[in-house]
Amino acid sequence: MDWMRWHDDYDRPGSPLARRLQVVREQIGTALDRSPSGPLRVVSLCAGQGRDLLDVLAVHPRRDDVRGRLVELDADNAAYARQSARAAGLHQIEVVTADAAITDHYRGMVPADLVLICGVFGNLTDEDIESTIASCPQLCGTGGTVIWTRDRSLPDRVPLICEWFAEHGFDQRWVSEPDAGFGVGVHRFTGRPQPLASGMRMFTFVGFDVLSRMDAPADGAG
Ligand SMILES: C[S@@+](CC[C@H](N)C(=O)[O-])C[C@H]1O[C@@H](n2cnc3c(N)ncnc32)[C@H](O)[C@@H]1O
Repeated sequence: MDWMRWHDDYDRPGSPLARRLQVVREQIGTALDRSPSGPLRVVSLCAGQGRDLLDVLAVHPRRDDVRGRLVELDADNAAYARQSARAAGLHQIEVVTADAAITDHYRGMVPADLVLICGVFGNLTDEDIESTIASCPQLCGTGGTVIWTRDRSLPDRVPLICEWFAEHGFDQRWVSEPDAGFGVGVHRFTGRPQPLASGMRMFTFVGFDVLSRMDAPADGAG
């Protein structure tokens, strides 16, 4: 999978991905608007080019209150995000080229006020979606927000994702309509943060392309 080119759809006006990006940006803006005054921390898992967070922060009144860490494995995407942060003067935003599944990469930046898990769940097995959500109390502070995405292709996992967040102390703030052409959810953590485990793997990023092949019948039909 070419994860640089995956971002090209963001530049096709009206594409589901472009519309999803718009919604994620709006939700990031709302979460920042509602955040308490003072310093804020943001982490983004599998951050890609950072187009969601960085474009919002560039013009948001809270921009200089925010320290953030974007964790992205693809070196070209990470370089793109780093350059965008620099160009926008967001000097408190770090971009780490690393496996976002490993808890150690968030040390010093969690519990965060805002956790972005966008473009991730569609690339994980159900078991790993659940284990990632179960890890969110290590990443998110009380009152903090998780913004996540999952496409609505069948089997539609959005209802299950909402159940799993509820089981782990998160209140549902907003979920996109089922027919929106994408899935975006916003959950707020009402529980107590858990200490960050050392060296823990939250998920294995399988990839939606590999997952769909795993689901296909062995003879390739259908
Ligand atoms: C579907 S894209 C989403 C990018 C971004 N979060 C967004 O929504 O625009 C998935 C991203 O995850 C990255 N990725 C894949 N496996 C990863 C891993 N183990 N750790 C960090 N990033 C990973 C890919 O390089 C790609 O940029």
